[in-house]
Amino acid sequence: MNAMIVRASSKALTFLILLTGLAANLVGSPAWAAYTGSAWGANYFPNIELVTQDGKKVHLYDDLIKNKVFAINFIYTRCTESCPLESAALRNLQQALGDRMGKDVFFYSISIDGDRDNPAELKDYSAKFKAGPGWIFLTGRPEDVTLLRQKLGMYRDDGQAETSLSEHGISILMGNEKAGQWIKRSPFEETRALARVLGTRLLPNYVVPAVAHKEAIRAPAQSVGEKLFRSNCEACHSTGSEDGIGPGLAGVVGHRDRAWLKQWIKEPDQMIARKDPTAIALYQQYKQIPMPNFHLTDNDVESVIAFLEANESRIAKK
Ligand code: HEC
Repeated sequence: MNAMIVRASSKALTFLILLTGLAANLVGSPAWAAYTGSAWGANYFPNIELVTQDGKKVHLYDDLIKNKVFAINFIYTRCTESCPLESAALRNLQQALGDRMGKDVFFYSISIDGDRDNPAELKDYSAKFKAGPGWIFLTGRPEDVTLLRQKLGMYRDDGQAETSLSEHGISILMGNEKAGQWIKRSPFEETRALARVLGTRLLPNYVVPAVAHKEAIRAPAQSVGEKLFRSNCEACHSTGSEDGIGPGLAGVVGHRDRAWLKQWIKEPDQMIARKDPTAIALYQQYKQIPMPNFHLTDNDVESVIAFLEANESRIAKK
């Protein structure tokens, strides 16, 4: 497999299109050719036992994959780096897929920290991201989950062992098992791109929702800061006043101390660890969802702030 592994701590800022060898082999095939006996059927997937956030035992292939359309990713509830972004991306995707979620499309967020993440922890985590019907959180024996990640090309595949959980591959694998179609994408992509790929390539009769269509015709990013904002921040924040997973950011440059703002965007986890009072208050207010540390450079941080600032003065002039 030639799947690219993005280290959780790496700065994957550009839109990454990650295709496994498996997907690459199949992508050129006619979209709806019936792939009976696909090479990646029952014989390929380890039929491991997993437990859902509601304590129900399921088997990977029989209950989750066979004949289904789905997205799979790997997380752990203590993760303060990429996982909150992955979960925010799936939450947005869930909204774009509307009432087809839980009927003909499913999400599986599987814990790589099975020693610690029990169903209760996962249930709590799923509530933070407002997981609705069809978005299932699962945990299992760590060695089983590692085997699965290796099979899916979602473990580090550079021959190294993972030295920490945060090094796990962070892509989202989307599949239609019956059609034998597999696509791997990055959570750094914009929601509409993910929704389009999953909806139009894997889900029969998908109609792109009006809001996704509106987004699809917006202009490309005009600055480095805007680009960074779209790929790293927008999954959780609007530039207006409405809240997403995190607070709406309208006015934030005006009302926060500049040095605080820079430091927060650069290393939110460190500020929480240091018990900065403003950071702690926000963290409590937003359901203790950790804002990820993207390991941005000082220049990146300045660019994002400049983008937010320009946006604020535009709003003020209106
Ligand atoms: C996974 C979701 C997520 C992503 C992605 C994210 N944030 Fe946040 N952000 C939060 C949450 C949640 C909070 C509230 C504090 C907390 O819980 O850590 C927050 C707080 C903030 C605040 C403080 C707001 C205030 O009122 O002072 C700023 C500024 C901010 N984020 C900017 C950014 C920028 C810039 C990016 C991109 C580089 C970004 N965030 C990416 C979730 C996210």
